[in-house]
Amino acid sequence: MERGIIAMAGWLSLYIWSVLVMNGEVDGDQLVDITFLKSAIPKGAVCLDGSPPAYSYSEGYGNGSNSWIVYLQSGGWCSSKIECYNRSTTPRGSTYPFIGNQTNFSGLLDTNSTFNPDFYNWHKVYIYYCDGSSFMSDIKHVDPRTNVTYRGARIFKVVMEELISKEMGNAQNAMLVGTSAGAMTTTLHCDKFRNLFSKTSRVKCISDSGFIIHGKGHLGDHYREKYYANVIRTHGLRKSLPKSCTSKMNPNLCLFPEYYVGDIKTPLFLLESAFDAFQIEYNTLPVVGGRLGWSNCLGNLRHCNSTQLGIMRDFRNTLIGALLKLKQSLSRGMFVHSCYLHGHILIIQEWTCSSLQGNNVLANKTIAQAISDWYFDRSSFRQIDIENDLPRNCSSSITPDLFVHKCLATLSNHPTCNYS
Ligand SMILES: *[C@@H]1O[C@H](CO)[C@@H](O)[C@H](O)[C@H]1NC(C)=O
Ligand SMILES: *[C@@H]1O[C@H](CO)[C@@H](O)[C@H](O)[C@H]1NC(C)=O
Ligand SMILES: *[C@@H]1O[C@H](CO)[C@@H](O)[C@H](O)[C@H]1NC(C)=O
Ligand SMILES: *[C@@H]1O[C@H](CO)[C@@H](O)[C@H](O)[C@H]1NC(C)=O
Ligand SMILES: *[C@@H]1O[C@H](CO)[C@@H](O)[C@H](O)[C@H]1NC(C)=O
Ligand SMILES: *[C@@H]1O[C@H](CO)[C@@H](O)[C@H](O)[C@H]1NC(C)=O
Ligand SMILES: *[C@@H]1O[C@H](CO)[C@@H](O)[C@H](O)[C@H]1NC(C)=O
Ligand SMILES: *[C@@H]1O[C@H](CO)[C@@H](O)[C@H](O)[C@H]1NC(C)=O
Ligand SMILES: *[C@@H]1O[C@H](CO)[C@@H](O)[C@H](O)[C@H]1NC(C)=O
Repeated sequence: MERGIIAMAGWLSLYIWSVLVMNGEVDGDQLVDITFLKSAIPKGAVCLDGSPPAYSYSEGYGNGSNSWIVYLQSGGWCSSKIECYNRSTTPRGSTYPFIGNQTNFSGLLDTNSTFNPDFYNWHKVYIYYCDGSSFMSDIKHVDPRTNVTYRGARIFKVVMEELISKEMGNAQNAMLVGTSAGAMTTTLHCDKFRNLFSKTSRVKCISDSGFIIHGKGHLGDHYREKYYANVIRTHGLRKSLPKSCTSKMNPNLCLFPEYYVGDIKTPLFLLESAFDAFQIEYNTLPVVGGRLGWSNCLGNLRHCNSTQLGIMRDFRNTLIGALLKLKQSLSRGMFVHSCYLHGHILIIQEWTCSSLQGNNVLANKTIAQAISDWYFDRSSFRQIDIENDLPRNCSSSITPDLFVHKCLATLSNHPTCNYS
């Protein structure tokens, strides 16, 4: 019962987070129609409840007409048949009738050149997440007890085929990017995505808050082991996990990026908070009584006591340790900051103008600048904030409208930010 509540609370919080992500779009309504891919149904490429995959697409133009961004939505996982059944009645397990008709494009997907100078005119795709397994499952039989269908891998395949039919395969530039569970989708499918393009295309992947750690020997490791092993069992993922990992160790550990990211061949950027709010609250605190006893601290970081700060600092050291242990790669980028956050890339406050939100810059670059420079090979970027070993509150109390005005002023004061 309690596990169920925790799981559901975890899901809810991710949902709230993504609602916040949606509302981050304040610099104008950039609503893009949703396409329901009904032709996927006969192929069995469906959401948990049997509804069709869904995505929003806006066409590229100008010098963006040969460049593609494919974005994968966040939303956690389900780790038991009953949890997946529950999810199948929500917008993270079904596209009908929950998700509405349109998607707000913002942050990296912003279509306004002022706020998104490098990517505003690219082809952009936002893929809805509705299978609870980071698009990895492919179980032939429908669960006869619940009618739940486990077919995420087929959804990924069918949507990619659809995009190829829109000429994505000819792209000169492409990136696969996702947040949280969508970031795990990104790292798990990154090399497969790369193979959709010719050798000469520039193809890169970005994981936004998706470096979910095992952290063996650290607080909560057994809880995390059990949770992700249950995700693997529920969705029948054993055979589809990265071989580079399953050939070396217990396959039940092979959803943890620290055990497979080092073997990804495609250039990858890891954007993380060393104090990732989701991982602390939902993958660590369950073993010390859950978030409830922590509401003072999580509501206002200044109220955290020394025990709580110790737990958070240990989490940070574990996450940074796991990042530093990865097999080295010159093409890998990294922006690891200390703001207490989860998810960045669709939020103007955490992307274009992260400098105005708790001054979240590293080496003098905003998140948008660091990632754009890395993507276009203008410069490499591997920065971890080693100065702050306590979580920072980077949220400001100014209204979103005022924030956009300040952001606009910053962009026009520093024309170099526009890379024109
Ligand atoms: C599933 O939903 C039911 C009804 O809302 C709830 O009682 C149960 O705890 C949920 N189970 C899980 C595992 O989330
Ligand atoms: C998109 O964002 C705008 C501005 O924040 C908001 O008014 C609108 O309701 C949002 N639309 C959707 C479909 O979420
Ligand atoms: C979506 O569009 C349909 C028909 O175009 C309309 O009937 C329905 O109200 C719309 N739903 C939402 C959530 O906007
Ligand atoms: C981009 O945003 C700025 C500031 O809000 C606005 O003045 C401009 O008209 C927008 N451009 C487009 C193409 O929408
Ligand atoms: C398109 O041109 C703009 C402005 O010169 C530049 O910032 C951007 O990087 C270019 N995009 C591509 C894909 O070359
Ligand atoms: C499963 O689907 C069948 C056929 O549509 C239906 O009769 C049955 O009631 C469904 N079972 C559940 C648990 O929803
Ligand atoms: C961060 O600061 C803002 C503004 O002062 C406040 O509203 C918010 O509750 C704080 N959040 C945390 C987690 O401390
Ligand atoms: C800090 O707060 C937690 C949760 O309320 C409590 O369990 C712990 O004993 C406190 N530690 C100190 C040193 O006060
Ligand atoms: C950061 O950028 C500002 C303004 O462009 C510049 O004045 C400053 O010297 C830079 N600092 C570092 C450490 O590069």
